[in-house]
Amino acid sequence: MIRRSLRLDAIYAWVDGNVVADIGCDHGYIPLWCVQDKGIKAYACDVASKPLERARALFKQEEADIPCLLMDGIEGLPGDVDQIVIAGMGGQLIEHILERSKARAMRLDSMILSPHKDVHLLRSYLRKAGWRIEKERFVQEGNHFYPILYVRKGNEPGDEASDYYGYHVVEDATYGAYLVAEQKKWRMLEQRVPADAFEEGRKRLVALEKRMKPRNR
Ligand SMILES: C[S@@+](CC[C@H](N)C(=O)[O-])C[C@H]1O[C@@H](n2cnc3c(N)ncnc32)[C@H](O)[C@@H]1O
Repeated sequence: MIRRSLRLDAIYAWVDGNVVADIGCDHGYIPLWCVQDKGIKAYACDVASKPLERARALFKQEEADIPCLLMDGIEGLPGDVDQIVIAGMGGQLIEHILERSKARAMRLDSMILSPHKDVHLLRSYLRKAGWRIEKERFVQEGNHFYPILYVRKGNEPGDEASDYYGYHVVEDATYGAYLVAEQKKWRMLEQRVPADAFEEGRKRLVALEKRMKPRNR
């Protein structure tokens, strides 16, 4: 059964490549929707065989012709792929995948990245590695806020505060709720963590204050 979610729908909505590869596809929904709804050629890729089998079974059931590639990151990515999706992994794993295959990554036209944690580390890596986050948005599922980044080659002057809370973010109600939740979390930690171990927390609270000020006017 296909289970749609706000997060996957939002990721899919930004897919606009000519040939797309979903790296770490697991269930395979994104490549399926690309082929069925957008008419885009897609590859389903995963490092583990079990998820890939799940995706293959779904494609068979849906009679969709989608190549399933057992591969680690974007090593060996087919030459025609011009956009990748990497979602549901940590920011550091995504960084590792991109850094390890830098030359291939740089031949892509765009990437849609949605880490489930450490997005600030990924943003920092991207701008230092010659990528520009053109737009980003947040989706809330339960208590968790998921960032979705649309990335192309380019330069971003960037700063630490934006690495923490985003570049060119869609400033909707979900983003507002995310900032409020972050402020609550870091204020609570401030009460619990010794002052000399709260350097990152202090920087985050300053960055949050700046981000929230224009919204509160
Ligand atoms: C939590 S699932 C996310 C599935 C889907 N992308 C989503 O967002 O719903 C993570 C998937 O990434 C795969 N994965 C982890 N490391 C990978 C790597 N280096 N290369 C390709 N796939 C990887 C895992 O096998 C797993 O199927």
